[in-house]
Formats: sequence, C-alpha cells, structure tokens
Amino acid sequence: MNVKVVYATKTKHSKKLAEAIASGLQIKAQNISEHPVLEDVDLLFIAGGIYGGESLPGMIGFVKELDNSKVKNVVLITSCTSKTTGQATVRKILNEKNIEVIDEFICQGSFLFFGFGHPNRADIHDAVEFSRRIADQTHV
Ligand SMILES: Cc1cc2nc3c(=O)[nH]c(=O)nc-3n(C[C@H](O)[C@H](O)[C@H](O)COP(=O)(O)O)c2cc1C
Repeated sequence: MNVKVVYATKTKHSKKLAEAIASGLQIKAQNISEHPVLEDVDLLFIAGGIYGGESLPGMIGFVKELDNSKVKNVVLITSCTSKTTGQATVRKILNEKNIEVIDEFICQGSFLFFGFGHPNRADIHDAVEFSRRIADQTHV
C-alpha cells in the first residue's frame, strides 16, 4: 500500500505532527509548498492548522488539485486551539472529488496562552497511534 503524509503549517505544529506520523510509518512527510508528486496513493494523511475557522489557503489550493485516479483515501490531521474545528472545506472538496475521507484526528494546538505547550508529547503520541491504526486497517 502506498502511503503519503503531507502538511501545510504556519507555526510548525502540523509539521511536527506530520513528521512524527510519517516516521511511525517509516516514510518522510512532505510540505505542500514543495509540491509533492502524488501518484497511486492509497492513503494520504493531510495535516494542517486552522486559522479563523479555515484551513490555510495553500492547503485549500493543494486539495483542489487532487485527483481521485491518483489519491484514493485521505485521513485529516488537524491542529487547532479549540480542539473541535475540523478541516471542513478540505473535507467538502474531497467529497466533491469522490476521494474518501476515512477519519479526522483533531489535535490540540496553541496560540498565545490558549493551549500553551500543545501539541505536546502525549498529543503527538496519540496522533501517531491513530495514524498507525488507520494504516493497519486500510487495505486497498
Ligand atoms: C491568526 C490565528 C488564527 C487562528 N484561528 C483559529 C481558529 O479559528 N480556531 C482554532 O481552533 N484555532 C485557531 N488558531 C490556532 C491554530 O489553529 C493552532 O495554533 C494550530 O496549531 C496552528 O497549526 P500550524 O502551526 O500547523 O499552522 C489560530 C491561530 C492563529 C495564529
């Protein structure tokens, strides 16, 4: 199974999560700003933060370019202070493209004193375990 991990980040929380998840899966995380080439991907982890209730514009642009003949399934890894706001626009675009969103892990991030210290070691551990479990369960 071909698994990839990509991320978009402003304050490196999603980078941290993506790199830990990728390392757990023995692959390398790729920043979407480096235009990763995605071919025959069975499972794509997309990690990103939330700004004003939205994903970063670069992330939305990246997802708009995805193609269901090249990417089959997606798992969203979301970093935000509320711990409740998902990547709704990304999910909607993927649904419109018939790319299945298997699940979403929402991780506590931080901004100023909100959520200070997150994502911490326990958050990262949980994200890695969640991702491993999904990768193990997904057989394409
Ligand atoms: C300008 C700004 C706006 C933010 N807006 C939200 C928001 O609407 N909802 C939320 O839960 N978190 C919000 N956050 C917190 C970020 O989502 C959080 O810090 C996240 O971990 C950032 O991920 P990143 O470092 O990968 O970019 C905001 C942070 C900043 C700096």
